[in-house]
Amino acid sequence: MLCLSFLTVFLIATKAQLYYDELKVIINMHVLLLKEPREGESAPDPYIKELAAHGHKATLIPVLSFKFVSLNTLSNKLFQPEKCGGLVFTSPRAVEAVKKCLEAEERSEEWNNSVRSKWNAKSIYVVGKATAALVQSLGLNTFGEDTGTAEILSRVIIERENTNSQPLFFPCGSLKREVLPKALRENGVPLETLTVYQTAEHPDLEKNLKNYFKEQGAPASIAFFSPSGVKFCLEVVQRLSGEELRQIKFAAIGPTTQDAMIAEGVCVSCTAEKPSAEHLAAAIAKALQETPAGHSA
Ligand SMILES: *[C@@H]1O[C@H](CO)[C@@H](O)[C@H](O)[C@H]1NC(C)=O
Repeated sequence: MLCLSFLTVFLIATKAQLYYDELKVIINMHVLLLKEPREGESAPDPYIKELAAHGHKATLIPVLSFKFVSLNTLSNKLFQPEKCGGLVFTSPRAVEAVKKCLEAEERSEEWNNSVRSKWNAKSIYVVGKATAALVQSLGLNTFGEDTGTAEILSRVIIERENTNSQPLFFPCGSLKREVLPKALRENGVPLETLTVYQTAEHPDLEKNLKNYFKEQGAPASIAFFSPSGVKFCLEVVQRLSGEELRQIKFAAIGPTTQDAMIAEGVCVSCTAEKPSAEHLAAAIAKALQETPAGHSA
């Protein structure tokens, strides 16, 4: 214990010296990430890892819980590629629903032997790298993984698709934002959506937040990952933070979430340049450096 605190003092002293010019101390602040752990990954969450690399201790609290629905309809669609012009995926969870449809051995075989190559002859649009990686694991070629937002992806789709082609098929969640369907509709690009998972507030959300604040106190930074995260957590977080609310650096994973935060009157300290663990961790680390010494947790 003594050794540890000695080491800590030494580290702080070293860091303090390093940052002496700016009179800033950046070490081991607490960051609260209001997100679900990444689906189907046993490795440590990339956001926790990236923040640890910047010297911060991050904790995840899941905001949402998910339930798959209409998997039979989804399966029928997936095995009739001739009826669609292509596919659109904007969330890893929608791809998980597809995976569920391919779990049975004979379906998987049929998919591998003939169906996926028929899809690969069409366009398969994805937003973001996490979704792209999952879609690729189904043996599909993806397009648009660098777009990052539904808005930019819509523009790419509109540029590439004909108004008189077969509809693109878009499996999505119940909380999908209307950006992509609306943009495509307005430009006459046919799209067929199917809700394949329903999203609801996580049943333990408030309890988990209370425990976190009780055990760790108010974090130095809180990151939101979706407008529904803002909707379900903001009020509780504000209540639990009390006096310390003003010192908390609020971070957003992207412009959509940032807008939802601003609409609720939150002062947003930083927004990730791209929706990735590296970009968010870098943005948070920078915002926390701007905290005057003495406010570190
Ligand atoms: C189909 O291909 C995937 C890899 O793309 C593989 O993991 C899976 O086992 C294959 N399914 C069958 C039934 O061969």
